[in-house]
Amino acid sequence: MQNRYFRDTILRWNRAENARQMPWKGEKDPYKIWLSEVILQQTRVEQGWAYYEKFVDNYPKIEDLARAPEEGVFKLWEGLGYYSRCKNLIHTAKYIAGERKGHFPDTYTEILALKGIGPYTAAAIASFAFGLPHAVVDGNVLRVLSRFFGVRTPIDTTAGKVELTELAEKCLDKVNPAEYNQTLMDFGAVVCKPANPECKTCPLSSRCLAYKENMVDILPQKSKRLVRKDRFFLYILAEYQGGLYARKRTGKDIWQNLYEFISYEFSRENEVSADWENITPILNAQWFKQMMGATKYTVVGLSPLYRQLLTHQNIHARFLRISLDAPLSDSGDFRFFPPHQLTGLAFPRIMNEYLQTKVHTGQLF
Ligand code: ADE
Repeated sequence: MQNRYFRDTILRWNRAENARQMPWKGEKDPYKIWLSEVILQQTRVEQGWAYYEKFVDNYPKIEDLARAPEEGVFKLWEGLGYYSRCKNLIHTAKYIAGERKGHFPDTYTEILALKGIGPYTAAAIASFAFGLPHAVVDGNVLRVLSRFFGVRTPIDTTAGKVELTELAEKCLDKVNPAEYNQTLMDFGAVVCKPANPECKTCPLSSRCLAYKENMVDILPQKSKRLVRKDRFFLYILAEYQGGLYARKRTGKDIWQNLYEFISYEFSRENEVSADWENITPILNAQWFKQMMGATKYTVVGLSPLYRQLLTHQNIHARFLRISLDAPLSDSGDFRFFPPHQLTGLAFPRIMNEYLQTKVHTGQLF
C-alpha cells in the first residue's frame, strides 16, 4: 500500500513538476549511460555535466574510447578525481570493443560482471538502456527511502543495505523502470535533499514517517564516523629552461597514473611544523641536498598551504619553486619534461590548483 503510494506519487511529481534537464536523460545508448553513471559516481551533476559532454564529443563510440591513447583519456578526466574509475573505464571499453566486437552486454548479470561496475551502475544501465526491472540504490535513493519509510537501520551496514535494497525492489515500477529510477534520483536531488529538504512542498510528506515523527534531520542513520588521515607533502618544482621534473605515480597509493613533481612526504606532524614552513630548513635537509647534488639553483618561492580532502585522507601540500642552473645529475625516477610536454600531463587537483594560482612570480607552462 505504502509502496504503491510512494511509486505513484513520485511518478506524478516527475510528470507534473520535474523539469530537471540533463544531457544523459532519456539516453538509450548503454555506452553513453555507462559513461554518465561512472562520471557521476563521486561527482555532482553540475560538475559532471561538462565532463560527460567532453567524453561524448571526443569518444562518440566505445571503440573510440578503446583506441584512444590512455594519457589523453586521463587528461580529459583530470579534475574528476578517484582515478580508478577512469582506469576501469578504459579497461572495460577495451574489453567490449575487442572481445565483444563493440556490443555492450544487455543483461543485468553480464553488465554487473564488467570491471568497475557495481550493483548501482548495473541497475542504471540495465533499466535506462534496456528497460530491465532493476532498482538503482545510490545515496539519493537510500535517503529518500529511509526517510519516507522511517528506516532507522544504519545505511552503511550490511543489514541496512539489505533492508533498503529489498524496499527499493518492492517500490520499483517494473513496467517503467527507467523513468522510475531517474525520477527517484531527481527527487532525492531536488526535493528530499540531504540538508534543508523541501518538506513543506513535498508531495510525499503526508505519509512520510520521518516528517511525521520529526526525524528528517537524523535519517538516514550512519554507524561510522569517517576518520581521515593527515598527510603532508612538499613538492619541488625544479625548473630548467621552462621545463620541470615529474614522474607518474604507479604504486597502490593515491593518484595512480597521475603525474607529480619531485616530492617529499613528511612523516610526523612535528617534523612538518618545524621544517616545512620556512625555506631554510628545507634547503638544509639531507634529502634535499642529496637530490640537488652539485647542481646550483636559485629559490623562486615557497607557496602557502594547499589542501585537498579525499575520502580517507586529508592532503596538505606546499610547493617550493627553484630555478636550476643545469639539469639534475641524478633525478631518480623523475624525468625532465620540456614545457610543451608538461601541458599534456594529468596532475592531481591540488597540483593544478597551485599551477593555476598566480601568486608565484612567473608563469609555469
Ligand atoms: N547521479 C547519478 N546518476 C544520475 C542520473 N542518471 N541522473 C541524475 N543524477 C545522477
